[in-house]
Amino acid sequence: MAKDIYQTPTGMHDLFAIDIDLLEKIENNARKIADFYGFERFEPPLLEFTHLFEKGTGEFTDIVEKEMYNLKTKGGDLLTLRPEYTPSIARAYIQHGMQNLPKPVKLWYCGPVFRHERPQAGRFRQFHQLGFEALGSEQAVLDAMIVQMFTALLQTIGVKKILVQVNCIGDSQCRPAFRKSLVGYFRARSASLCPTCKTRLKKNPLRILDCKEEKCEKIKKGAPQILDYLCKECHNHFKSFLEILEELEIPYALNPYLVRGLDYYTKTVFEIEEDSEAGKMQGALVGGGRYDGLIKLLGGKDTPAVGGALGAERVIGLLKNRMSKKPTPEQTVKIFLAQVGELARRKALKLFEMLRQANLQVGEALHKDSLSAQLKMADKACAQYTLIIGQREALDNQVIIREMKSGRQKIVDMDKVVKELKNNI
Ligand code: HAM
Repeated sequence: MAKDIYQTPTGMHDLFAIDIDLLEKIENNARKIADFYGFERFEPPLLEFTHLFEKGTGEFTDIVEKEMYNLKTKGGDLLTLRPEYTPSIARAYIQHGMQNLPKPVKLWYCGPVFRHERPQAGRFRQFHQLGFEALGSEQAVLDAMIVQMFTALLQTIGVKKILVQVNCIGDSQCRPAFRKSLVGYFRARSASLCPTCKTRLKKNPLRILDCKEEKCEKIKKGAPQILDYLCKECHNHFKSFLEILEELEIPYALNPYLVRGLDYYTKTVFEIEEDSEAGKMQGALVGGGRYDGLIKLLGGKDTPAVGGALGAERVIGLLKNRMSKKPTPEQTVKIFLAQVGELARRKALKLFEMLRQANLQVGEALHKDSLSAQLKMADKACAQYTLIIGQREALDNQVIIREMKSGRQKIVDMDKVVKELKNNI
C-alpha cells in the first residue's frame, strides 16, 4: 500500500483536542475584543478567483509566485485556496457595496489559509489566521487600534511579553524615489547579493531589505532608509501612529528593514512577536499594515484601510510549550462513576446521563471491569467523590458515594444520588 495513504500531506496537520481547545480560546477571546471595538465577524469562501490574489497580493510576491494552491474547475474557472484573507475582504467590500455603510467598516475573521511553503518551525501549508480589518479611514488612530487589539488578545491568552516592530514604507508619492535610490545602491553591489535578491532587484527590490542571508544582511546595513524619503503626509501619519503607541504604552521598535512580503501595503507596516528566545524561534505572531490602494486597485472606490492577521498555530505552539503536565481544571472532575458487573454497567450508563442532565461534571470508565483500575483513574482526575455501583448495589438500585480524601462511604438510593451530590458539592 502506498505510504502516503496514511499520512497527512507535507506541511498539513491533524488537530488534536489540545490544539482545538487553544484555537477556540484564541477565537473566543478575539470575539470579546472584536465586540467591544465594534468589529463584525465576516467569513469569505475558501476559494476565490486566482486573479484576485494575483492582482491583490501582488504578481511578484512569494505567495503568488510560489505558494498558491490553484485549481481549475470543470467549468474552466481558475480558483485558488485563499493564501490570506485581505484581498477577499477588499473584494467583499466592493461586491457588497460596503462603501455605503458608515465608515470605517470593521470586520474580523478566523479560519484556515493555505500556502505551499517549505515547512519548518512555525511554518505550515495549512494554518489558521485571525484578523481584524478597518476599511474607510486614513486616521493613524485606526492603525494603533488594530495593534492595540492584537496586543490585548495576546495578553489575555497568556503571551505577556510582546514586541511590536514598526515601519512606514511610504505611498505612491514618495516610494518611487526611495525605490530608485535603493535599486541604484543594490545594483552597484549586485555581485555580492544572494541569487534570490538578484531576482528581487528586478522585480521587488524592497524585499531585499527583508533578506536574512548573511551576505545580504551585511550589504543592506548601508542601504538608503525609507524614513529619509517619506513625503510630508506619510511622515506625519507615521509620527502620529508612534505617538499613539507611546500613549498606549505599547512597547515598539522601529525596524527600517521591515517591508512585509505583500504588495498592497502603504504607510504603516507592523509585526508582533513574543519578546523571548522561544518567540524569536516561532517568528512573527501577527503581521499587518495599511493598504490604502488595494480597494481601488481591485476596481472599487479610493478607500484607505488597515488591518492585520495573527497566525494561530504559532501562538498555539508557544502556549503548548509552556503548559504544565498537571491536569487543567477542564481535565479534572469532581465526581467519578465506577461499576462492577454487567447489570451495574447498564445502570451506570443510565445514572451517567442523569448526572449530565443535572449539570454535574462526571468522569467514567464504563469499558473497564476492574474496580481498582477505575479508582486509580478517579484519583488521577482529582475526583472528590467516586460513585460505585457494585453487583449488590445494582440489584438494590443503590449507589455507594465514596469521599476520596477520607475514604468515607455512604449508600444512597439511585434516585436520590443527584440531590445528595448537589447538597455536598
Ligand atoms: P502575513 O504576514 O503573511 O500577513 O501573515 C500573518 C501571520 O500569519 C504571520 O504573522 C504568521 O503568524 C502567520 N503565518 C504566515 N505564514 C504562515 C505559515 N506558513 N505557517 C504558519 N503561520 C503563518 C497576511 O497574511 C496579511 N493578510 C495580514 C494583513 C491583514 N495585513 C493587513 N490586513
